[in-house]
Amino acid sequence: MRSLISIEELSRDEIDSLIATANDIIENPKKYGELCRGKKLATLFYEPSTRTRLSFEAAMYELGGNVLGFSEAQSSSAAKGESVADTARTVSCYADIIAMRHPKEGAPYVASQHASVPVINAGDGGHNHPTQTLADLCTISREMGRMSDLTIGCCGDLKFGRTVHSLIAAMSRYENVKFVLISPEELRVPSYVRHGILESGGIPYVETRDIREVMGELDILYMTRVQRERFFSEEEYLRLKDSYILTKDKLSGAKDSLCIMHPLPRVNEISVEIDDDPRACYFKQVLYGKYMRMALILMLLGVDA
Ligand code: NCD
Repeated sequence: MRSLISIEELSRDEIDSLIATANDIIENPKKYGELCRGKKLATLFYEPSTRTRLSFEAAMYELGGNVLGFSEAQSSSAAKGESVADTARTVSCYADIIAMRHPKEGAPYVASQHASVPVINAGDGGHNHPTQTLADLCTISREMGRMSDLTIGCCGDLKFGRTVHSLIAAMSRYENVKFVLISPEELRVPSYVRHGILESGGIPYVETRDIREVMGELDILYMTRVQRERFFSEEEYLRLKDSYILTKDKLSGAKDSLCIMHPLPRVNEISVEIDDDPRACYFKQVLYGKYMRMALILMLLGVDA
């Protein structure tokens, strides 16, 4: 039995095969409509979510399965002091697969050690978010037509933005990928990403505060929200929250083939005037995320299409 806690647990071949399945689902949805008949997915969400939880649920419904779960810690026995380990054991009696989001780094890993069904990390604190990365990889593959030879700009809160950590881990494995990390000093990528992934892997990267000076080099611009809930002080958040706001003006030097991504939710870091730009891919990312979650559920449940 296999869980998914970090994106690095999937090989490049497995990622290619998940993308191939997602593409096939897009083309032949009927083929998949009954594959999880009688199976149940539990969504255990201890933190707010719109896309991740609902896309897991939509994914399971579109595979013919059913869904149960909770969407806030306060409505679960966590409010009475139950441990993640005991909750995972309990839910294993009801469901065939679990998707868990938790504010504490490592909680889904702990759950996977105690559950008797696969556990998918749906976001753990400021650490990782592998299924958002699956959505991102599918978007890059479909929109760019390649996974290699890319300059990827990541902009905003690179410290607490867990989706960026998982994206860097995943894209570092492809040939000739270069990262441009755009953030204020206070929100630079954590050292375990900078040293543990980029430097130790010999992956080229530059860090800058200035989005304008690098815009023209980018093939992908991955914007992120400043993660208010992870700041120690509101004052610090207020000081940093408007560090980057993407406007038409800032895009003026960008490539015509640029792919603008964002895991969403957006606060104000991408002006709505960009939404109609053909380079804006963030709502396509939402849709691809559902198909990649369908592909992942099939893989972890061992169901052949
Ligand atoms: C992201 C997350 O939860 O980390 N959202 C998502 O799952 N698409 C990004 C964010 O909250 O800013």
